[in-house]
Amino acid sequence: MLRIGIHGLGFMGMMHYLAYQKLSGVKVTAICETLPERRKGDWTKIKGNFGPQGTQMDLTGVAVYAEAEEFLADKNIDVADICLPPNQHCPMTVAALRAGKHVFSEKPVALSLADADAMVAAAEKSGKILMVGHVLPFFPAYAFVYEAARTNRYGKLLGGHFDRVISDPVWLKDFYNMATIGGPLLDLHIHDAHFIRLLFGMPEKVQSVGRLRNGVPEYFNTQFIFDNPQLVVTSTSGCIFQQGRPFMARSEVHFEKATVVIDGGGTTVLTEDGQAVPAELPALDEVGIFANELKESTDAFIQNKVSPILGGSLARDALALAMMEMEALRKPERI
Ligand SMILES: NC(=O)c1ccc[n+]([C@@H]2O[C@H](COP(=O)([O-])OP(=O)(O)OC[C@H]3O[C@@H](n4cnc5c(N)ncnc54)[C@H](O)[C@@H]3O)[C@@H](O)[C@H]2O)c1
Repeated sequence: MLRIGIHGLGFMGMMHYLAYQKLSGVKVTAICETLPERRKGDWTKIKGNFGPQGTQMDLTGVAVYAEAEEFLADKNIDVADICLPPNQHCPMTVAALRAGKHVFSEKPVALSLADADAMVAAAEKSGKILMVGHVLPFFPAYAFVYEAARTNRYGKLLGGHFDRVISDPVWLKDFYNMATIGGPLLDLHIHDAHFIRLLFGMPEKVQSVGRLRNGVPEYFNTQFIFDNPQLVVTSTSGCIFQQGRPFMARSEVHFEKATVVIDGGGTTVLTEDGQAVPAELPALDEVGIFANELKESTDAFIQNKVSPILGGSLARDALALAMMEMEALRKPERI
């Protein structure tokens, strides 16, 4: 039995808790959370931008802690699943690895490359595994694209475009704080940065143009430039001011023999013979999607090997990509 301790029982902590219930050979044995009502199982105030509303939970058999030190001293935890705000990922990951736990941290891996490097180095030193919750490849449409690329189903990859644009989340007062959340670049676009790195490898450089808000990227377009000039990858991410379109994600991935189009209306394969064929995808709700992500990570923890999708170094590369974009956006001539 792989024993999981969830650190931070907010929106993601709840999603992970529910998703773990769908896995066999895995058990949530502990929770660490500062809010007393959540430690008592009152999750009714938890609500994210997708997934179920929180309910009253029965936490019988689950150890609950308010303090990280006590949580990390619990010998009944094999994996610390860190669902804390991003600025706490690095210190809590390093502490958990030192305490002899494997770590699954939510995305983004950290808010600085120095922190991400420290996390990867701490994992190497501890002999434990660090994985990071980049869930996008487990959404059925993106899993379909990743599998097509991995198995060469439609021939060589030629590139693609990735859109992820939201209405300004005015209710999140800290959203544009680079020291706590990281704005649209590190909270939102990091999903596509990770998928681009996973699919195409690490680009040589990026060209980004966009709007900044007090120096923080707000809305931006990027061209990812690879060694191979035939590989053309672009993205658009950020926030618009109007509230009428809370969330929009649209992607297309170009292969030699097909183009896969992912948008709100479904996933379509444009084939060589001119057809537009709906992709056959499993029907999964959000908890099911997170369960697939956590199955990938818990299998890897059990086998003591890093997942090719969720590894800490890959998440570090995704952050490096985002930082390259930030540097391009902040060039003095653009401010
Ligand atoms: N993969 C995704 O699609 C996705 C979606 C949303 C959030 N996230 C990520 O998940 C992480 C958490 O986001 P969230 O939306 O769940 O945040 P949240 O604010 O809903 O939850 C954080 C929880 O941690 C608790 N907490 C804070 N500091 C603590 C500490 N030191 N010790 C114990 N408890 C503490 C808070 O009380 C809160 O309950 C972030 O990194 C975010 O980027 C990922």
